[in-house]
Amino acid sequence: METGQTVWIIIYVIIGLAAVSALVKILSKKTAPPRKKAPAQYVSISAQDNLDTFATVYDLGWKPKKELLTGIPPEVEKVINSIDSISPLITDLSARLNDPDINPKDISRLIITDQGLTSFILKRVNSPYYGLVQKVDNIFNAIVILGYNEIYRIVMEERASRIGIKPSREEWIHANLTSTIAAYLAGASRIGVPGGTMVTLGMLHDIARTIMLQSLPQPENGFSHDPRERLRQETELYGIDHATLGGILARRWQMPERLSNAIGRHHWPMFWPLREVAQASPDVIKELAILSISDIAAKNFSQDITGTYIGDDYYRFIKKQPKIESILMPEITRDLKRIRHIGEVKHGESGAPREGSDRE
Ligand SMILES: [Fe+2]
Ligand SMILES: [Fe+2]
Repeated sequence: METGQTVWIIIYVIIGLAAVSALVKILSKKTAPPRKKAPAQYVSISAQDNLDTFATVYDLGWKPKKELLTGIPPEVEKVINSIDSISPLITDLSARLNDPDINPKDISRLIITDQGLTSFILKRVNSPYYGLVQKVDNIFNAIVILGYNEIYRIVMEERASRIGIKPSREEWIHANLTSTIAAYLAGASRIGVPGGTMVTLGMLHDIARTIMLQSLPQPENGFSHDPRERLRQETELYGIDHATLGGILARRWQMPERLSNAIGRHHWPMFWPLREVAQASPDVIKELAILSISDIAAKNFSQDITGTYIGDDYYRFIKKQPKIESILMPEITRDLKRIRHIGEVKHGESGAPREGSDRE
């Protein structure tokens, strides 16, 4: 064979091999399995759901307005204008608690920049409420012993108190119970809701209720225990309900829109089915479902109300049976009892915050 021919054969073989390998590459690309994505969460009502149940739950004589409120009644405006913005540390910590790479060193470093906050936490942690055998003298150890959520709840309480928002015993207990249940449900439901966000929402969802109680006239015979009726009474008396006002406040405090939105709409699940609320608030429907169920469960735990209150669709959405017992599971009731006990001891019999408590 001539040298020229051999060269051509070699060239043809190389071209052939290149073509085959390119073809294999193209084919393997086509057949490659799709990249794994977290399964999307759809709001669906399955065929076995009893639509009649939803109809009766939401067949109500009064409902709040869904439209965004354009103006705040002047008397309420005056009250909230007198309140300073809440510390941005809350939003910062909320985001850090959502981070899977969270570590106690970073969190304690952030907290210790504020001397007042640090001594507030240490004083609380070493108070007889917790009954710790050894004295805790730094924030790092406090986080390790009590956990991020508990320390963060104390931070939120201190920050609210600094701008003059001091909850009554019932409100303190309710916020801490709701927050604890919400953090538990965020983990247990696995629907992709960050725990830090739920702890924040649990603590702050009723913040405007505390403001209304502290600074606005109360109805002659008090407010109803029924949360829907209470909302109607507030709207009638003040021209705005505590959830809507809380959402407006959070926005003024420059909290993230998702948090402000969820605070403002936290009672919607008591008035409209999941599908309808999800259409209006698709970005916070998971947070709203967990928050409203935690709110109801906390009220059941403290015996303010009895029953599931909102449609079964919300319970199913967070993968729970529509029963309060499926929410108040034994694994959290010990924590809830402890919170109730701390609230009772901390506020004494009168229910009002003890003057100078945690501050001496
Ligand atoms: Fe509320
Ligand atoms: Fe609440």
